[in-house]
Amino acid sequence: MKLVSGNSNRPMAEAMASGLGISLANASIRRFADMEVFVEIHENVRGEDVFVIQSTSYPANDHVMELLITIDALRRASARRITAVIPYFGYGRQDRKVGSRTPISAKLVANLLTEAGSNRILTLDLHAGQIQGFFDIPVDNLYAAPGIVPDIRAMLGDSNLTIVSPDVGGVFRARQIAQRLDADLAIVDKRRERAGVSEVLNIIGDVSGRRCIIVDDIVDSGGTLCNAATALLEAGACGVDAYIVHGVLSGSAVERIDASEIASMTITDSIEPTPEILASQTLRVITVAPLMASAVQRISEESSVSSLFD
Ligand code: R5P
Repeated sequence: MKLVSGNSNRPMAEAMASGLGISLANASIRRFADMEVFVEIHENVRGEDVFVIQSTSYPANDHVMELLITIDALRRASARRITAVIPYFGYGRQDRKVGSRTPISAKLVANLLTEAGSNRILTLDLHAGQIQGFFDIPVDNLYAAPGIVPDIRAMLGDSNLTIVSPDVGGVFRARQIAQRLDADLAIVDKRRERAGVSEVLNIIGDVSGRRCIIVDDIVDSGGTLCNAATALLEAGACGVDAYIVHGVLSGSAVERIDASEIASMTITDSIEPTPEILASQTLRVITVAPLMASAVQRISEESSVSSLFD
């Protein structure tokens, strides 16, 4: 087995390699003067089972290109099997036509990954499970929930909790966590008037006097979460915390969250945390590297990945 790291989340790749007791393969991903990506694999990979670790996070397009070009280099170097390990699959939110003459970019990225030479995909909490169907190669979509549940118990206890989905699309994820904690479930009915702006309309479920935990796959601008927190507190919640798998946290999102009424927000390291995130009083980061490493081990040994969640 060989692990190759892209530039987007090297700490995650190093943690995975260390968990697997191996070193990262010797490879370099560089830029030409005009920012074209150039990849060189400095060791033999002929006949190897190769895992390329790369989140397609900010700058998303550069990281997608790095991943595609690394896969191309490995394919041309006769790797036996190439698995794209994508802890955060960017473009996942563009999984359907949202209007006339708009793209389905998640499908386009899936096509590109396959065409470049990926034989398998390993990812975490896809924005929508159905994105697996955009690929005609096997996809293992891991869930952060089994790691999040014990963390919630340790940090917040397990009584008087209501798990909240900040929009209707996230109900499946929130319900999974609520069931594991034996907690109540509430849903924020969110309407987004235009891209990047969210508006809370209604809360489905009784949150009065409850400690609410908002669970979502992505925090980007932070608008969805901050608006949901305000609505929950106005409806009588006694406190709001958040657990989000992918901390995209664009622009001034960290500042916005620090200034919000959210008591704490826990994200995973599927995207490498910035110094600003690490310095935040509200944000904390838990690691999914052991989960990703276990899945790599199992894929390599051809054993069950789903049993990680039994
Ligand atoms: C949307 O469907 C996602 O699950 C997130 O709720 C959304 O991407 C969060 O974006 P933002 O933080 O910009 O409101």
